[in-house]
Amino acid sequence: MAAAALLLVAALVALGSGHGGEAFDPNPLQDFCVADSTSKVRVNGLSCKDPAAVVSDNFFFAGADKLHDTTSERYGYSALTVQIPGLNTQGQRYARIDLAPGAIFPPHYHPRAAETALVLEGSVYFGFVSSYPDNKLFAKVLSKGDVFAVPQGLMHFLYNNGTAPTALYASLTSQDPGLVLLADALFAGTLPDDLLAKTLLTDKHTVDNIRANFRPS
Ligand SMILES: *[C@@H]1O[C@H](CO)[C@@H](O)[C@H](O)[C@H]1NC(C)=O
Repeated sequence: MAAAALLLVAALVALGSGHGGEAFDPNPLQDFCVADSTSKVRVNGLSCKDPAAVVSDNFFFAGADKLHDTTSERYGYSALTVQIPGLNTQGQRYARIDLAPGAIFPPHYHPRAAETALVLEGSVYFGFVSSYPDNKLFAKVLSKGDVFAVPQGLMHFLYNNGTAPTALYASLTSQDPGLVLLADALFAGTLPDDLLAKTLLTDKHTVDNIRANFRPS
């Protein structure tokens, strides 16, 4: 029992330090680790299916040609996560994003991933902002076939300011990129109003007005 516990601690230490100073997902030491969502044992998120039971469909996803997932009522975008169990531990994540005319994917960042996005349909104003103190905007109006890249951790946004629906295919360089929506991080949580007012160089009344739009309905 003690030996088993020691082994577990050693394994956890190895997992934590195995990728040295790198900020990216660790490299797998096996061909694949198809996620077994039925297992209760979890290593880096999910356990591996028995390799002998792995089939081609574990590396396959159908239906990325249409959107059929969550839609943001506030912002008018839809996101479809491309679920491929065989990508478990591969340090990648993919999504189809749809934006109705006028819709935005508001300023946000992924703490653990760089992102590239390919425009499948329509056009979109896509950009990111470099870190403090430059806060420089890098942005392009993209159309079908264009690809734009966002470095890891930088704030970016999408805005369909055209008249036709937009669809994009986004690739992220982590299995768990994380998502910080800046407006939600500030207003949807429980940061004190007076702290927020000081942060935004404004008054509590203005903060309350904005905050009212971010209360869960
Ligand atoms: C969308 O916004 C960008 C940036 O302001 C601008 O360059 C572009 O012309 C706009 N597109 C349309 C269709 O208005």
